[in-house]
Amino acid sequence: MFDVSLRHLRFAYDKELVLGDINLETRAGDFVCLLGQSGCGKSTLLRLIAGLERSDPGQLLVGGKPVERPSLDRAMIFQDYGLFPWMSAGDNIDIALRQKFKGMEKAERRKITLEWMKNIELDEGFYDKLPLELSGGQRQRFAIARAFAIDPPLLLMDEPFGALDAVTKSLLQDTVLELWQKVGERRKTVFFVTHSVDEALILGTHIVLMGQSPSRIIHTHAFAPGEKPHRDTMYSDPKVMELRNHLIRLIEEDIQQKVKSQKLGAAGGAGKA
Ligand SMILES: Nc1ncnc2c1ncn2[C@@H]1O[C@H](COP(=O)(O)OP(=O)(O)O)[C@@H](O)[C@H]1O
Ligand SMILES: [Mg+2]
Repeated sequence: MFDVSLRHLRFAYDKELVLGDINLETRAGDFVCLLGQSGCGKSTLLRLIAGLERSDPGQLLVGGKPVERPSLDRAMIFQDYGLFPWMSAGDNIDIALRQKFKGMEKAERRKITLEWMKNIELDEGFYDKLPLELSGGQRQRFAIARAFAIDPPLLLMDEPFGALDAVTKSLLQDTVLELWQKVGERRKTVFFVTHSVDEALILGTHIVLMGQSPSRIIHTHAFAPGEKPHRDTMYSDPKVMELRNHLIRLIEEDIQQKVKSQKLGAAGGAGKA
């Protein structure tokens, strides 16, 4: 389990400033949903935490240590599954185990792979299938199994269910929550990116709302233990619906503010010409 500390993170692609000034402290075992509109910099922030990009300036600590490069302690799950297409789905888990647990015997790796396939309701027959032979939902199950199999203290998920139909999405949301809850004391810290307010409400112990880019955090909400919404009851719970409306309002206000500042910028530019 890792706590994550983001202090004054700032990031630009060339000259385009994407992350303004991001500050966030999370505790080990939190399930943090990073919520924000498309283009606000959610994936960029996740890439920073993964060690794929560097913040400049700013400090990023995971488990108290500065992040300098990618590590198998921080597994990433992407929307497009990220499985090697030339390898069987089962071997995609096997190779990750081989990288993480150097020297682990092949038989042991196969046992762990099959265990995790079972945990996400894929029977042994799927082991030898190529990713192309699987549905989107089945591929994402493999990606989740692979991430959990290498047992990373920090799990980074970038809109992993964005391309799936509504039913598959709900099933996989429940699977991820179950796996996250099951490990109890060794519960993983999760950063889960989404643009859906409802998905954030269903999954997160913490909701972190990011504003339009160059983004900063405009709101955070932490659910008290035992108060985390549940999909079956949240739509009839006035407290959750109040929070839901509040989040939607904040997102709309932030968009309007950005549109206004763009208009002002354009008017200013025209005036100078
Ligand atoms: N590799 C890149 N090079 C240049 N600009 C990028 C790159 N990746 C993302 N961007 C830009 O940075 C901004 C934030 O992107 P991203 O982090 O992908 O947002 P989100 O995940 O919230 O949709 C966008 O304006 C996007 O066009
Ligand atoms: Mg993204």
